[in-house]
Amino acid sequence: MELDYQHWVDQNLPSQKGKTILITGGNSGIGYYAALALAKAGGHVVIAGRNPGRIDQAIKNIEAEGIDGQVEAGIVDLASLESVNQFAVDFLSTHPKLDILINNAGVMMPPEGKTKDGFESQFGINFVGHFALTGLLFDRLKSTTDSRIVTLSSIAHRGAHIDFDNLRLEKPYDQKREYYQSKLADLLFTLELGRRIDAIDAPVLSVACHPGFTKTELQRHIDPAMLKDITLMDTWQGSLPTLLAATGPDVKQGDYYGPDGPGEMGGFPAIGEIDASALDTDVAKQLWDLGQTATGIAFP
Ligand SMILES: NC(=O)c1ccc[n+]([C@@H]2O[C@H](COP(=O)([O-])OP(=O)(O)OC[C@H]3O[C@@H](n4cnc5c(N)ncnc54)[C@H](OP(=O)(O)O)[C@@H]3O)[C@@H](O)[C@H]2O)c1
Repeated sequence: MELDYQHWVDQNLPSQKGKTILITGGNSGIGYYAALALAKAGGHVVIAGRNPGRIDQAIKNIEAEGIDGQVEAGIVDLASLESVNQFAVDFLSTHPKLDILINNAGVMMPPEGKTKDGFESQFGINFVGHFALTGLLFDRLKSTTDSRIVTLSSIAHRGAHIDFDNLRLEKPYDQKREYYQSKLADLLFTLELGRRIDAIDAPVLSVACHPGFTKTELQRHIDPAMLKDITLMDTWQGSLPTLLAATGPDVKQGDYYGPDGPGEMGGFPAIGEIDASALDTDVAKQLWDLGQTATGIAFP
């Protein structure tokens, strides 16, 4: 299996020398394998996450693989806008460019909870935190030649719905519905951002991807019985749509990548199918307004 990973990476990953790459949640799962490949390819990778010990361990593991680039830690809790702000200030003062931002971190179906700013935790971490991070770093992306923003969505966006009256747990918690909603928000965000970037003619791509069903710690809150009929891909393979979206030479504004197998549940990366729910520009605008109001950050 490791050979297949290396084979795909060798065949498809261009050199990342000279590139600064920021990946949220790069200490674990899909983010870890994406960070590893990008650092091996010569990139300067910043792994941003909430747990310094886990990030340091991930960096040690990546460095032990032998890399051409470098890896450093960034501390950010996406469940707190104050933390996102502080991280952005630190990052901007130490990194003159940002070639690739990968909005990868996420939680799925945790026990009921809210972020520090009062959002249901999945919507707050998966969408609001990344909206703020992207907004705060956007000018640095814009001033970096041919930069990219890659945001992780999911098959779960299909048929989901943004309930604007239930983003702060106003209604009884439904862990599955709220996860699906957050991943639809990520895809609506990606596409709306791409349209807004095009409107100002900035040289930045906003693209999305999903890893099908991949074995990671994301499933930690799920009853194993729910997973018994599902085949999960190895973690390395789930990182490939991210790597293609982040580095592929033919990637275009608004592209969405996922595995090429049946139902996009497994396989190797290819263009994925975007559900009609993510193509609704009225909902996308409403979500954008909410993101701006909630974070106080207006961009692009
Ligand atoms: N695995 C799948 O089948 C699948 C399917 C569809 C979409 N996805 C998406 O893929 C992305 C990566 O997930 P994964 O499967 O690789 O899961 P994972 O192994 O659990 O990784 C998630 C990462 O997000 C970080 N994170 C969670 N909450 C955070 C917060 N408040 N602030 C900062 N970082 C936070 C975690 O940090 P800690 O290590 O500190 O917990 C971890 O590094 C997610 O966006 C997920 O929705 C995954």
